[in-house]
Amino acid sequence: MSFPLVRMRRLRRNETIRRMVAETTLGVSDLIYPMFVCPGKGVRQPVGSMPGVDRFSVDTLVEECKQVADLGVPAVILFGIPEKKDALGRGAYDKNGPVPLALRALRRAVPGLALAADVCMCEYTDHGHCGILDKDTVHNDATLELLAKAAVVYAQAGAHIVAPSDMMDGRVGEIREALDEAELPDTLIMSYAAKYCSAFYGPFREAADSAPQFGDRKTYQMDPANVRQALREVALDVEEGADIVMVKPALPYLDVLAHMRDEFDLPLAAYHVSGEYSMIKAAAQLGWIDHDRVMMESLLSIKRAGADMILTYFAKEAAKLLAGGG
Ligand code: PBG
Ligand code: ZN
Repeated sequence: MSFPLVRMRRLRRNETIRRMVAETTLGVSDLIYPMFVCPGKGVRQPVGSMPGVDRFSVDTLVEECKQVADLGVPAVILFGIPEKKDALGRGAYDKNGPVPLALRALRRAVPGLALAADVCMCEYTDHGHCGILDKDTVHNDATLELLAKAAVVYAQAGAHIVAPSDMMDGRVGEIREALDEAELPDTLIMSYAAKYCSAFYGPFREAADSAPQFGDRKTYQMDPANVRQALREVALDVEEGADIVMVKPALPYLDVLAHMRDEFDLPLAAYHVSGEYSMIKAAAQLGWIDHDRVMMESLLSIKRAGADMILTYFAKEAAKLLAGGG
């Protein structure tokens, strides 16, 4: 059967028909909003390379999160900017650091919001690497202990989800064990399982002041050339007790996401990262693209490739559009 019996355009003839045959939908429940929390009071400091994204102190963060929850966004993920950094990243597991303080305040003030905490050392180390150093390399096994310590601190402060983004081997198992030992068996682990060594993290590193002071992250984050290796990473994290696995960045790695969807049954997350956000913002500011349409098409594509949830700095804007029927 072919033309003229089959006419594909029939399925596209008007908005209602298109809505009926749509294979993918984007909903507000799919979104997770990444936020930066810093010390101080009354702080709301714009990030230059990420228009619309700010660093918040705990008090302003709480107010912002009330709005986020009112828009129907189910979750936020918090990144901390500590008062000071040191070689061991002590701020990462400080019970009174910005992230634990924010978690405690949010649990009280915005009870319906799911709270995730990113677990990594790079925001807290003076050298900017994601673990502790042994000469000029990141020491895998010595880092595990600190990551587990941080995860327990966040879970005790109220995080429903801890999200290790460091790419050390064995960290999911180590964190799971530490959570169980601390009698926090209900805490979810959302693992950045396939996290690539990507130039798209540039604006985030300005926001979190977390660029490595020497070298790069190629010995721990994944090589963009690899997809089969990503599946091995996921399999290991699943074995070690991850509840949700992530691919990051999103749009340049949709093939990775699609392969993960084929092979695994657990919930999948994709991180639409800072550089992906900033490119859209910049082109829209120049008048070269339609901001809202490019935003929604990008998010829908990530869903179509297989994501159940999307971490995106567009969460608030997308939620507003979705509520308006846009
Ligand atoms: C920390 C971390 C990074 C991002 C999330 N967690 C930066 C990095 O690995 O350098 C990037 C997020 C983004 O670009 O939006 N390890
Ligand atoms: Zn890191």
